[in-house]
Amino acid sequence: MAKTKFPEGFLWGGALAANQVEGAYLEGGKGLTTVDLLPTGEKRFELMLGKVDSLRPMEGYFYPSHEAIDFYHTYKEDIALFAEMGFKALRVSISWTRIFPNGNDEQPNEAGLQFYDDVFDELLKYGIEPVVTIAHFDVPVHLVEQYGSWRSRELVKFFERYATILFERYKGKVKYWMTFNEINMLLHLQFVGAGLVFKEGEDQNQIKYQAAHHQLVASSLAVKACHEIIPDAKIGCMLAAGSTYPYTCNPEDIYSAMEKDRESFFFIDVQSRGEYPGYAKRFFRDHNLNIQMEPEDEEILKNHTVDYIGFSYYASRVTSTDPEILKQMTGGNVFGSVENPYLEKSEWGWTIDPKGFRITANQLYDRYQKPLFVVENGLGAVDEVTPDGEVHDDYRIDYLAKHVAEIAEAIEDGVEIIGYTSWGPIDIVSASTGEMKKRYGYIYVDKDNEGNGTLKRLKKKSFHWYKQVIQSNGENLEN
Ligand code: BG6
Repeated sequence: MAKTKFPEGFLWGGALAANQVEGAYLEGGKGLTTVDLLPTGEKRFELMLGKVDSLRPMEGYFYPSHEAIDFYHTYKEDIALFAEMGFKALRVSISWTRIFPNGNDEQPNEAGLQFYDDVFDELLKYGIEPVVTIAHFDVPVHLVEQYGSWRSRELVKFFERYATILFERYKGKVKYWMTFNEINMLLHLQFVGAGLVFKEGEDQNQIKYQAAHHQLVASSLAVKACHEIIPDAKIGCMLAAGSTYPYTCNPEDIYSAMEKDRESFFFIDVQSRGEYPGYAKRFFRDHNLNIQMEPEDEEILKNHTVDYIGFSYYASRVTSTDPEILKQMTGGNVFGSVENPYLEKSEWGWTIDPKGFRITANQLYDRYQKPLFVVENGLGAVDEVTPDGEVHDDYRIDYLAKHVAEIAEAIEDGVEIIGYTSWGPIDIVSASTGEMKKRYGYIYVDKDNEGNGTLKRLKKKSFHWYKQVIQSNGENLEN
């Protein structure tokens, strides 16, 4: 494998989300979030799409976020392991309802604020830079009940207040921020992305794009507050990325691939360039969508654009306009894709496309000309623990080595990339399925899909591999 060169100070590390690791779902004064209502099994998908009949956990279901991997209590031990790997950065998210249990309380909850102070202090003790996502898929349930979540303009105000409290409290500790995790997920998993619950017969597009507008304005207001309160901080957007390939060179397929990409770029176009692109306005017209915008919105979006483009990359996507080809679909981070005959898939049907990583990074940089931050990438796989307590996860090393090598190529291409935080450096609850058995970690956690296990942590083979990668600043990717 070719020697790779990464810039000095490159932010190597891992990425987590509060609801997938913390557990302690009602401890320390925390309020209920939408993720706390997502059980494992069949029901989960229905709910994630916004077909929600109860806004309370229901009898007879298992809710993996309630305990997760208990990071709320084990963060010191876990951070020590990240430090042992040499992490330069750890991406975490803050749970909105730890800070404001109802989402819109008059005063923040001190116990919640203190918890993240403790986490940041622990990271800084080891020289690990905290990278903080303000909202990672968890909307306060109270705001869903009272306001219909992001369909209401009120949420903009509540989010701005929440973000402002965070900037004020953590201004001395956190220099890298992101507003909404995978903001484009709102179009695919509406309950997850924006806490939207639909009633029969509603125009879902109207509601989704109205909610999107609210999130975009809220994001810009958070950028504004961040720049005012922490002038030396960087605040980014976060896109679930992965370029869409046309199945053939038929111009219809090419156009369809462009449209698919624009469905996602739309969000980042607004967050990074500061205005709605022409194709989005046309989409609104063609679909008779009437998006309510306030007179000040144009100015807010224009003047408070993001400093960097955070993105996740797991897989590329393929589209076609041929109904026969469209039958050959595969999964992949919720974005349905036609199967790519040139590529292999993970055990969960996600296409494995390292070259696509370079393509995606180049495409994003060409489009935005802003630094990129890879804040998620990894392989969800089943791991076996040997009788002597080892996990030989060569498949994970292979996946990561090939992807990191392509990031190095992108850097050689002139793409500015400030860091790489792989997803789930310790095994965590899967966002899409709620499973524990879909593991991404360098550190194994003894827990199964039903919640059984000691929660004991074990270093996998990839733990030692990633340590070597970081130590060599990406030069040594050998297994
Ligand atoms: C991203 C999310 O979509 O993909 C994470 O930001 C998520 O929260 C990750 O965990 C991997 O997806 P999954 O479904 O394998 O956990």
